[in-house]
Amino acid sequence: MSSQSLAADPIQREPVAENESTLTRWAERGLIPDGLLRFGIRRQCALRLSQENALGVEATAERQRAQIDELRHSPIAIETAAANAQHYELPPPFFQLCLGKNLKYSSCYWDDSTPDLDAAEARMLGLYGERAELADGQHILELGCGWGSLTLWMAARYPSARITAVSNSRPQREFIEARCKERGLDNVSVITTDVNTLSLEADQFDRAVSIEMFEHMRNYEHLLQRIGAWLKPGGKLFVHIFCHKTLAYPFETAGEDNWMGRHFFTGGLMPAADTLLHFQKDIHIEERWLLPGIHYEKTANAWLENQDRNREQVMEILTQAYGAEQAKLWNQRWRMFWMACAELFGYAEGSEWLVAHYRFARKG
Ligand SMILES: C[S@@+](CC[C@H](N)C(=O)[O-])C[C@H]1O[C@@H](n2cnc3c(N)ncnc32)[C@H](O)[C@@H]1O
Repeated sequence: MSSQSLAADPIQREPVAENESTLTRWAERGLIPDGLLRFGIRRQCALRLSQENALGVEATAERQRAQIDELRHSPIAIETAAANAQHYELPPPFFQLCLGKNLKYSSCYWDDSTPDLDAAEARMLGLYGERAELADGQHILELGCGWGSLTLWMAARYPSARITAVSNSRPQREFIEARCKERGLDNVSVITTDVNTLSLEADQFDRAVSIEMFEHMRNYEHLLQRIGAWLKPGGKLFVHIFCHKTLAYPFETAGEDNWMGRHFFTGGLMPAADTLLHFQKDIHIEERWLLPGIHYEKTANAWLENQDRNREQVMEILTQAYGAEQAKLWNQRWRMFWMACAELFGYAEGSEWLVAHYRFARKG
């Protein structure tokens, strides 16, 4: 669905779903103060963990084993059109008003010396450079490039590298191509396609990198097998995901009334920190890093602050995208989305839901 079609036919998005709970309806209308909303989200997190823990070790492990098996028998990604429409086909100016200056739509890195979101974006991008062992002259594939946060960073930092960026969103490609033109970067090509059907020549990339796209994927075995084949011998894959420290669950079953799955993450998956490690047929793990969820908590709170500070312009864009009747509702839904992310990743001081980095190498 393109941004034009959203604007031309705004009523295709129902203001309030039939099965939304009364509390959710009130929250979506802005009738519940943010503090109370955040409290409710934390309660949901606690409930999920206590339900999982009540199962006991063996039952939980058995469920996770069945989950891994199910992923092996899924398509690479499901519900791709819905997920794309929910985020990635919205006009880029919406994200320019909410995200940092690199438009990094994924967790940034904060420590005591990080003054703001732009600096936190830069810190995380720098970390990718080190951990993925990126270098000038490499041929690099980026899967799920968003609005080019890493692609444009790599293109400027490694002028002799060649970067092939992939996402399923046309507005993202147009945005990146325009930035490359403005900045005189001629080492980037962007492909708009669903990763399910992405076809590339074998043995051509020194590096593949993917930042928060794997959570939209299901069949990691198939995906990692294909990435392995696209890499040169000795080539490496760097992945950044968000995850839970032990649990993996699909978003269609997450939360009491599945608000997140319905509006923001249809077909998405919360992987566990070890989920990807079950799929090492074609690539093998070299290094894994775990980061506390507070990095994401701070990132999502910064996005919310930006949205609120730029409310007037945000409302104009949302009116264009969703229609005048639904703009206010969607403004609040996006606010709730950022708050849900902040509270989930901030839960128990970031010790439950995490950010994980992996560097894999092609086998053989
Ligand atoms: C959360 S965003 C992350 C964007 C970017 N990596 C960043 O960190 O700013 C996920 C990205 O994956 C892409 N994506 C999700 N599902 C996809 C699919 N099935 N095929 C291709 N791209 C997909 C989205 O279009 C988006 O670019």
